[in-house]
Amino acid sequence: MMYIDNTQSAGEATSQERRDRAQPDSRVLGRVVQCDGAHAMLAAYADDGEGTMKTLWAVGRLVSINLGSIRTVGLIYSIESPTMSWQDGGHNPITVHVELIGEVRDMANGKPVFDRGITAYPHIGAISHRIRARDLEAVYDLAGRHAVSIGQLSQDDAISARIAIDDTLNRHFAVVGTTGVGKSTAVSLLLRKAITAKPDLRVLILDPHNEFSSAFPDHSIRIDSTTLDLPFWLFKLEEFVEVLFRGREADPEEVDLLRDLIPQAKQLYRNPGSQGSIVRRSLDGNGLTADTPVPYRMAELIRLIDERMGLLESKNDRPVFRTLRARIEAALADPRYRFMFASRLIEDTIHKTIGRIFRVPHEGKPITCFELAGLPSEVVNSVCSVLARLAFDLALGSDGRLKLLVLCEEAHRYMPADPRLGFAPTRHALSRIAKEGRKYGCFLGVVTQRPGELDPTVLSQCSTVFAMRLSNEGDQAIIRSAIADSSASTLSFLSSMGQREAIAFGEGVATTMRMKFEQLDRRLLPGTSTIHQEDGGTLDNDFDLAAIIDRMRNVGRPQHGTSVPESAPLAAATSQAGDQSYRAPRAGGFDETTHREALRRRLEEDESFRRLYE
Ligand SMILES: Nc1ncnc2c1ncn2[C@@H]1O[C@H](COP(=O)(O)OP(=O)(O)OP(=O)(O)O)[C@@H](O)[C@H]1O
Ligand SMILES: [Mg+2]
Repeated sequence: MMYIDNTQSAGEATSQERRDRAQPDSRVLGRVVQCDGAHAMLAAYADDGEGTMKTLWAVGRLVSINLGSIRTVGLIYSIESPTMSWQDGGHNPITVHVELIGEVRDMANGKPVFDRGITAYPHIGAISHRIRARDLEAVYDLAGRHAVSIGQLSQDDAISARIAIDDTLNRHFAVVGTTGVGKSTAVSLLLRKAITAKPDLRVLILDPHNEFSSAFPDHSIRIDSTTLDLPFWLFKLEEFVEVLFRGREADPEEVDLLRDLIPQAKQLYRNPGSQGSIVRRSLDGNGLTADTPVPYRMAELIRLIDERMGLLESKNDRPVFRTLRARIEAALADPRYRFMFASRLIEDTIHKTIGRIFRVPHEGKPITCFELAGLPSEVVNSVCSVLARLAFDLALGSDGRLKLLVLCEEAHRYMPADPRLGFAPTRHALSRIAKEGRKYGCFLGVVTQRPGELDPTVLSQCSTVFAMRLSNEGDQAIIRSAIADSSASTLSFLSSMGQREAIAFGEGVATTMRMKFEQLDRRLLPGTSTIHQEDGGTLDNDFDLAAIIDRMRNVGRPQHGTSVPESAPLAAATSQAGDQSYRAPRAGGFDETTHREALRRRLEEDESFRRLYE
């Protein structure tokens, strides 16, 4: 291979050389020595002959190759010394491999314009040089689209990294990267920009680590297990079954029974006059199914089960009725399920609850941080399913006037690649948003550490991807296959990117862009409220161990001054059911009285246990 000493050659006259031509041309840095359809090789020197390194030569940077009226833009993806040796103080030749990503042309008004695709290939000997800042801007110019700056280019931090916010949101986006690289922070930054740019946007964050509310102190409301109110009748049958069976496989007979009886309970709620008839009530005309979001009373459902059981001729047929009944009672009595059963919400007020969750009206706080960490793990699936479904239906029902973004952290949990894992209704609800949401103004944001474990169809629906550092080979391969515009070499950097750094590609950017997200104020980082507490050294003194242990035991703390917990969930469940005389039967189910008795005895006998309550 022949090396040309560029430092001594002034190079061709180019349209952009504006210096005094008598000066040595420090911008002429290499010459093309080989070119195929997509790549070129440049011969250059690592230093300028006087001991100064040329910092331009670094993997990931863009360079220009001058072809007169056209400047071809190349991305450096590999550099080597052809002799595999180094001479201190000498002139060290290097070979630079670039991927050709497009061309910049000057318009009549002098403005540079970038085009993907190559119309003229570099000839051997063509000069390559540092890319001009204006050309670099042209490469990432969004051509009049609504642009929002989210950081700086990695190559030149004087140039802001801009995304087309409408396209990024409308066509769904994903943020992927290994743990700790700054995904959540990047997402909170993106959301901040999004709500500023689009004031009518609503955002629902499914927040498995309860970390986002600290990132939006002024723009979000928090819903957690204590403030959540999601009545059981909003759940579809399979979601309700998931709760009743606590995530385990459901007994098909019990499910059939529910499918049969829930519509009857709904009809009875709507039309109490039909009560008393033991024969299966006709459902014709009202179209109620177990999935219709219409209220009913739990007491009614239990009564219907009893009624059916009474009809049976043989006692041998009864176990399925008994176990279902016990299951329902156990759920009613479980304090952790209070959010479903304690509600007094009926149709008239439900729109307020849904309005609160989905911020209609948003009252200056368009973001809902839906904190999942406190919810029992076996209901997280169902709750996410209900929320994703509601989000889609609301957007659909508003004819696209309500713009709703559902942000799904740890998305591989809800939409796993393995179809046998995860909860089918949640996956279905979220992929419905991914596939059809755009038409109705319902958008999806997906965050995951493990793109390889995420359902590939969901990732393929995300038209803009921010790929942060990924160390796993398989995960890198997934992202590589997702990048359509050939920049496969871009992705060789995936394993070595710094914190805050990302490769952005897809609809939301003009060209695949290596960038660094803005530095976010420490107070606005996701999850900082807990970190601050730790920083403050309050850990040893102030935290409430008793409350934590209570939570582990899943029992509510007693009111001050009472020695045993109130049976609030049961009382609430029965009042919600609209039937004050109803008491949960003891047989088979969760027995509240026995439970309270046992607790009282333990409190009397066990001093250390008692101290937890004092
Ligand atoms: N844009 C940023 N500005 C300021 N600090 C940042 C930024 N991005 C990341 N950091 C720092 O990196 C830390 C980790 O970031 P973050 O929690 O967003 O990572 P993550 O990818 O979401 O991690 P995990 O996978 O564990 O959820 C933050 O606490 C913060 O200190
Ligand atoms: Mg995170």
